[in-house]
Amino acid sequence: MSTGETWGAAFASATTDSMSVYDRIMVPRIFDPWADLLLDCVGVAPGDAVLDVATGPGTVARRAAVRAGASGRVSACDLSPAMLVMATAKPPDGGAAPITYLHGPAEALDVPDEAFDLALCQQGLQFFPDRAGALTEMRRALRPGGRLGVAVWCAIHECPPFEALAVAFERVLGAEVALTFRTGPWGLPDPGELGRLVDAAGFTGVEVVRRTLPVVFEGGPSQLLATAGAAVVAPLIAALDERGRADLLAAATEALAPLTDAGAVRSELASHVVTARR
Ligand SMILES: C[S@@+](CC[C@H](N)C(=O)[O-])C[C@H]1O[C@@H](n2cnc3c(N)ncnc32)[C@H](O)[C@@H]1O
Repeated sequence: MSTGETWGAAFASATTDSMSVYDRIMVPRIFDPWADLLLDCVGVAPGDAVLDVATGPGTVARRAAVRAGASGRVSACDLSPAMLVMATAKPPDGGAAPITYLHGPAEALDVPDEAFDLALCQQGLQFFPDRAGALTEMRRALRPGGRLGVAVWCAIHECPPFEALAVAFERVLGAEVALTFRTGPWGLPDPGELGRLVDAAGFTGVEVVRRTLPVVFEGGPSQLLATAGAAVVAPLIAALDERGRADLLAAATEALAPLTDAGAVRSELASHVVTARR
């Protein structure tokens, strides 16, 4: 199993409690702003039918639903029951397209052929056991001329707060744990490989661009470290005794010092955004 697949399996078996940190800390500071960027890149028109693959707690689906409006429709799938519990618990936005949430893998989408104007996948592809199969499924679900938008993080050193966390994990939990962290969400960093994957799935007009957005953890290193509760390393951190947890926070605080200003961690994250057409 690749590291990305290990992370994917961990999401799938996670409890809602452990994933709540993702929704509470990561979504507003990271995934919501990136969802807006992805939707700007792809373009959503009123009335569009939108498919969001690996929707997590409905991040892209909900923002696409607002843009598609009441005459649109959104289907959103994820493999993680915990993520879908959080997604379905959120009240719909006024005037937004209805969202249907589906439990299942990206590699076997439970949707009809040629049913969508847009297929979107934000920070999911790197976790799929069969990336080519998932892209083929997204193409199958798109009507001819329909548009694809996929976002995948660049290398972890281009996402400095998380590279600093990896350094802290290496110091306290060891090199192997740090490598597992580094090569999960940041495990598909080559824009050439990304473009070739989308191209090989039969899409046309494939474009890969590198984008950056600022990120702020106003709660400082401890708030950023808390996001590891939704990561593959979470059980190892939970198993640390009080001294171990203090060592980890000290290591994270030290590694994050160049990014910390008046108690807040301020930096930027870089992602590749792929757009293409069926
Ligand atoms: C980093 S989260 C991104 C979630 C969401 N797109 C967002 O922007 O907040 C990755 C998501 O991929 C999902 N995932 C991983 N492997 C999957 C698979 N094979 N099929 C469907 N979803 C999968 C996880 O359950 C998780 O919700």
